[in-house]
Amino acid sequence: MPERQVVCEFTSLANPGSQGFTLEHNGGTIEIFVVRRGEAVYAYQNQCPHTGVNLEWLTDQFLDLSNSYIQCATHGALFRLEDGFCLRGPCAGEYLESIEVKLEAGQVVIFLNE
Ligand code: FES
Repeated sequence: MPERQVVCEFTSLANPGSQGFTLEHNGGTIEIFVVRRGEAVYAYQNQCPHTGVNLEWLTDQFLDLSNSYIQCATHGALFRLEDGFCLRGPCAGEYLESIEVKLEAGQVVIFLNE
């Protein structure tokens, strides 16, 4: 059974916008982030497929200046919001590690695999 965790209220997210979280999981911690665009929400591990580093520019800033893509702060790789596919950069063709996410009664809920 995936582990269910409530991370935030949906309306607390900027639109479009992103927010990072460090969660306890399996006796350790996992860094993730969620992205909102309109009524949609997506969640990924905070790890660039290129080198494994965290993605954000500044706290909670995972999106590019146009808020159209997720952008890695280290070498600028661009990822689609909706599936984490890397369109441009040193890891083009690879994906961010997606995390199952749902909206439940206005809350953003993620499901982490064991
Ligand atoms: S570490 Fe993300 S693009 Fe190089």
